[in-house]
Amino acid sequence: MKWDPEKYSQFSTQRDRPFFDLVARIGAGDPAWVTDLGCGTGALTAVLAGRWPDAAVTGLDSSEDMVREARGMAGVPGNLTFARRSIQDWDPEPGPGVLVSNAALQWVPGHEELLERWAKQLDPGSWIAVQVPGNFGGLSHVLMRELAQTPRWEPALAGVLRGEDSVSDPERYLELLLGAGLEPDVWETSYQQVLTGEDPVLNWVRGTALRPVMDALPAADYAAFEAEYGQLLRRAYPAKAWGTVFPFRRIFMVAQKA
Ligand SMILES: C[S@@+](CC[C@H](N)C(=O)[O-])C[C@H]1O[C@@H](n2cnc3c(N)ncnc32)[C@H](O)[C@@H]1O
Repeated sequence: MKWDPEKYSQFSTQRDRPFFDLVARIGAGDPAWVTDLGCGTGALTAVLAGRWPDAAVTGLDSSEDMVREARGMAGVPGNLTFARRSIQDWDPEPGPGVLVSNAALQWVPGHEELLERWAKQLDPGSWIAVQVPGNFGGLSHVLMRELAQTPRWEPALAGVLRGEDSVSDPERYLELLLGAGLEPDVWETSYQQVLTGEDPVLNWVRGTALRPVMDALPAADYAAFEAEYGQLLRRAYPAKAWGTVFPFRRIFMVAQKA
């Protein structure tokens, strides 16, 4: 799937906040390695490299555009490298390390099995820190899926958008990590985001959830889909004097292998 680093970075204040809330709970002192799975533009991976300057820090992403952006970032710390690689192909390194994945595993069907596998493979002293959006039942997603299922769009978009099964419940992640012998801390937060500008929710999803639709439709059809969807979003998320409130639920898990 094609990603647009510039579009994705547009709401970096709101998009980055969960990353900082996530990594604040990691207690690793001196890991040998740190891997950021689905690292995107790499800006947040650089934060990890700054926190653990003696660790070999790697950002992995399957998007050519994202990896190019990450490699071109100014002032990349010496302990940080980026590679184009899919999350499914990754295995933990030997020694105590930290696996971080922020807002990426929802794109990977079956990521629960991967988490279980990694939990078993990790060496003692390692940490897992993952955040996934828990808003697939939110209006922005529901309206997109409903529109995709209307007679005009169904033939081109059948099977393109994933539903609420894109992520699991916090309880499932908790049990999975406990079952793998880790000491997990799992929680969820609903951020009451106030976005500004014209059509801010549409602009937000252009950077993420709409990308499979962009990939699936020719440009003119995509523009027509977006125009219909934009109208629905304006009704669902009305602009007020202070901006547009776009609530966003996120699920967090941080676990240590003792
Ligand atoms: C929403 S962005 C998050 C980027 C970054 N972690 C951040 O928080 O800024 C999701 C990223 O996951 C990457 N991604 C999605 N599926 C992937 C896969 N199977 N393997 C590797 N990267 C993947 C995308 O290319 C994209 O850069």
